[in-house]
Amino acid sequence: MGYGREIYLSAEKILRERRRKAQEEAEQRKAAFYRACPQAREADRRLASTAVRAAKAVLTGKEARGRLQKLKEENRAVQAEYGRLLAEHGLKPEDLKPRYACSKCGDTGYLDGRMCACMKSLLRSESYRRLNELTPLSLSTFDSFSLTWYPDKAREGRPSDREIMGDTLRFCVAYARHFSTRSPNLIMTGGTGLGKTHLSLAIANAAIQKGFGVVYCSVGDLVKKLEDEHFGRGDGTDPSGPLLSCDLLILDDLGTEFRSSFSSAAIYGIVNGRLLAKKPTIISTNLTVKEMMEYYSERFASRIIGSYRRVVFVGKDVRQQKRLCRTPK
Ligand SMILES: Nc1ncnc2c1ncn2[C@@H]1O[C@H](COP(=O)(O)OP(=O)(O)O)[C@@H](O)[C@H]1O
Ligand SMILES: [Mg+2]
Ligand SMILES: [Zn+2]
Repeated sequence: MGYGREIYLSAEKILRERRRKAQEEAEQRKAAFYRACPQAREADRRLASTAVRAAKAVLTGKEARGRLQKLKEENRAVQAEYGRLLAEHGLKPEDLKPRYACSKCGDTGYLDGRMCACMKSLLRSESYRRLNELTPLSLSTFDSFSLTWYPDKAREGRPSDREIMGDTLRFCVAYARHFSTRSPNLIMTGGTGLGKTHLSLAIANAAIQKGFGVVYCSVGDLVKKLEDEHFGRGDGTDPSGPLLSCDLLILDDLGTEFRSSFSSAAIYGIVNGRLLAKKPTIISTNLTVKEMMEYYSERFASRIIGSYRRVVFVGKDVRQQKRLCRTPK
């Protein structure tokens, strides 16, 4: 998957910060050791000075070999003393070296000229962070979802809205708990304000906690992004990469986008691409199946009916109920 320049820059910035922190902490440990053991500081100085004298010996050239030999021996002796002082203070040489988050590449992001696994995973998480930047993920959790907003009056032998929504909530909790890249696709259907976005974000939250790459996108924003890209107004980062490759894609509010032949084709392309790649997608919509067939194509609607599990939302607009509760009498 290719990433834009911005993503590289921010991953490199994070690595630079990790390196700086590791080095600073190593300096602090060293300083603490030298405070406790001034002889070690002295030994360190002598090691530095033998290095300088060795360089001078080579440059002046006079009896270089003999002098270098002597300096080498001196150096070895000082190093041994340094090691002894470390041990006396219960330390190992590694204890004064930087502890990098990635011991393979020392937080440089590269290993023998190739990208290290830590850099790859940073690029991935940075691109998801950016895609999800505008989403109020933290506000929508299962804990903040209440069933008391749904009428509990049973209707002639049929379950009440609250019972139906209880099933919906339990299903979503279980889906989130057992989420994997083999989880089924979901289509959440029902009127406005019934909690579709809320529960899809709660699932997204749980999947992100488990370390999955999740992209949340309203269909309107998605179409706009793809349009910008298609018509050359984008920033050069092809948004369809992560849309197709992420572990879970959430397409919110299907049917509210500005509809055109471009948007239908773009949405179909993403939905179909994910079906072919066998990667789970959650779609939420206020549309009925009949409207879906009308707005898109029969091919699209039957794709969704055949390969998505339906999760039903019923009741009265919760957003409106909450607003009425707050309105002073
Ligand atoms: N069962 C619920 N408990 C608490 N808040 C809810 C519940 N259902 C919806 N909300 C809140 O009401 C508002 C509308 O819900 P939302 O999920 O956006 O509805 P939808 O996507 O179905 O139109 C949001 O602020 C959401 O957090
Ligand atoms: Mg919604
Ligand atoms: Zn690394």
